Amino acid sequence: MSQAPDTQPVHLRLEDEVLVVCIDHPPVNALSQAVRAGLLKAVERAESDCAVRAVLLVGVGRAFIAGADIREFGKPPQPPSLPEVLHRMELLDKPVIAAIQGPALGGGLEVAMAAHHRVALAGARLGLPEVHLGLLPGAGGTQRAPRLMGAQAAAELMLSGQQLSARAALEAGLVDRLVEGEDPTAAGLACARELLASGARPRRTRDLPIPDAATAPAQLDQLAADTASKARGLFSPARIIECVRAALELPFEEGLRRERELFVECLNSPQREALVHAFFAERETAKIPEARAASPRPLARLAVIGGGTMGAGIAVAALDAGLAVTMIERDQESIARGQANVEKVYDALIAKGRLTAEAKAATLARFTPDTSYDAVADVDLVIEAVFEDLDIKKAVFRELDRVCRRGCVLATNTSYLDIDAIAAETRRPQDVIGLHFFSPAHIMRLLEIVVAARTAPDVVATAFELARRLKKVPVRAGVCDGFIGNRILAVYREAANHMLEDGASPYEIDAAVRAFGYPMGPFQVSDLAGGDIGWATRKRQAATRDPKARYVEIADRIAERGWFGQKSGRGWYRYPQGARIGQEDPEVLAIADAERAKKGITPRRFTQDEILRRYMAAMVNEGARVLEEGIALRPLDIDATFLFGYGFPRWRGGPMKWADMQGLDRVLADIREFAKEDPQFWRPAPLLERLVAEGRDFESLNRPA
Ligand code: CAA
Ligand code: NAI
Repeated sequence: MSQAPDTQPVHLRLEDEVLVVCIDHPPVNALSQAVRAGLLKAVERAESDCAVRAVLLVGVGRAFIAGADIREFGKPPQPPSLPEVLHRMELLDKPVIAAIQGPALGGGLEVAMAAHHRVALAGARLGLPEVHLGLLPGAGGTQRAPRLMGAQAAAELMLSGQQLSARAALEAGLVDRLVEGEDPTAAGLACARELLASGARPRRTRDLPIPDAATAPAQLDQLAADTASKARGLFSPARIIECVRAALELPFEEGLRRERELFVECLNSPQREALVHAFFAERETAKIPEARAASPRPLARLAVIGGGTMGAGIAVAALDAGLAVTMIERDQESIARGQANVEKVYDALIAKGRLTAEAKAATLARFTPDTSYDAVADVDLVIEAVFEDLDIKKAVFRELDRVCRRGCVLATNTSYLDIDAIAAETRRPQDVIGLHFFSPAHIMRLLEIVVAARTAPDVVATAFELARRLKKVPVRAGVCDGFIGNRILAVYREAANHMLEDGASPYEIDAAVRAFGYPMGPFQVSDLAGGDIGWATRKRQAATRDPKARYVEIADRIAERGWFGQKSGRGWYRYPQGARIGQEDPEVLAIADAERAKKGITPRRFTQDEILRRYMAAMVNEGARVLEEGIALRPLDIDATFLFGYGFPRWRGGPMKWADMQGLDRVLADIREFAKEDPQFWRPAPLLERLVAEGRDFESLNRPA
């Protein structure tokens, strides 16, 4: 937001008898203090100037108003408040019209709802997404939306944070008419003149009856019950329902007061702080030095090498973004399987009624399966997704180096392997980069962009441009074993293994992690991914493992029995008859007991709190190392990695934000405490020690790179 303090973000002009109020505060006309002050001035002018017979509100640029200025949350409030401005505006005795193009979200829709008439252009998007920021609409939205669209629909809109198209908003009653054309001012003026010609009086939303007042209370009870189970751990949804109840039960002004109280509770909640952090982290990760220093290379034709789980998912992600995709596999049988893997995704959408056969055919017209590397000679970017085996990958890169045109970006989707070693197989290491997608690649939003020692800046910029087109959250990472995410995961997963061996059951650990807000615990994840994958990695690493480091063998005992998780009907849990939800297994507990006995460990009890403190401390400590080594640019990059790739609960902001909110001194004290038992595993990261000594937090390192 680069608004200079002395510019006027709200301009007024009188057009015939209509006061046109232009909100001009790039990029999205957020309701900063200056905008609120400008709107108040407009209302005062309309109150006092008898030349003004109607007021028209329009947004300049791509948005009507994208809501409150999120950067102001958590700072001392600056008058005038939005509720106060909207109160005065609604009471004007001259018709007020809002003409909406682009987003009218949160406080932006509240402005429109406090106007007396609303017209929407085709590209308008209306919504009350405050729930995503841990908030509720705090400028009368919870009281006005029920009067326009009904209490049940309003509650659903606010609980989902969903955005409605102009047509859907018209059908819901949120807007009065849909207008053709691109110019909101012309559309709004036409509406204003018509209203003036017909002598229309202000139609105040506050005076409208709630259309479903009789049936809504029962439906709200149902919504409240659903919310309690669905919005597990979230603070604002129950308060949204309470506000809608207040709209049904109390006079308008009292409803507003109740809304204010509950809004302030949300505003002051840690969830709001964490969710606002997540909102900005999601956008900041793309701001990296190379994006400023270099321009992306052309990016229209892409190839994937390998059509397995990842290759097919990446192909779908690229096809969905409108790119042309060539897929290469080893032989006819494999390419047929690769093609089937891609088609399966579209067929599932057709079966759900979310795609037509024609649309599938049109998309697949851009898809070329092949078995010859010559087919990728002219593409702009190649993503290799073959088996996780360094020799195979090296051979693929030698082949790519032979066939690909100069300037083509050569990317690997490896999870752990050394990208510098892969790049060294080519005569163009400057063109080689890691693009680490997450499974399923067409759904998961995280894309780790792994910059190798010799990767050129414009190759990095091209990777970030690809992420933008694929609508991914790109995180810049450096080369190390596991990059940002898998490297940190390996450490906290190990902390879970230690707790298991010391006496916690896998079920207790999973339950503690779920209680924190993760959808699944680490042992459930292992059963879902397949225990054979981790087992193979452990066997590979056995030769290089530090013999002095603690090694927990319980997972090996499980895998040796062929208990690989869901796919084999049994892992850490039992899955009778293909069940998706596992049952606890006494035999697993017996195996753990036997392993403990073998090592002479007397099992002890772990509280949920201790499980979490250890799990999180391991995560944060390794995160600090990853930062210190420059593998991650900023703490927010680690937060985004875990929010968008590893199921970390968004309302906790990510591991580094969580640590800041706990207090880094507390996290460090825990690590020092745990180090008394195992000083090798629990070595405090020097960066964490330094920050604590200097009284700083991770946020202080989140400067734009
Ligand atoms: N406040 C401050 N900055 C905002 C903002 C807001 N409400 N909305 C967007 N921005 C900033 C973004 O951070 C970004 O800044 P940088 O360029 O510096 O990174 C810039 O505007 C552009 O945003 P996007 O990259 O997201 O652009 P987009 O075109 O993809 O999306 C958008 C535009 C749909 C408006 C999207 O930004 C969005 O969803 N914004 C948030 C909307 C929202 O949640 N509003 C409710 C606020 S809470 C509220 O209003 C409470 C209340 O009741 C008073
Ligand atoms: P997969 O086994 O499902 O698919 C690999 C495919 O590569 C197979 O279809 C195989 O026929 C093909 N292949 C092998 N050698 C080839 C060659 N020389 N030329 C062309 N095709 C060849 O494996 P998956 O899961 O798709 O993994 C691929 C890569 O992605 C690995 O490096 C893996 O570490 C990485 N990865 C995997 C994730 C996952 O969750 N499965 C997540 C992120 C990365």
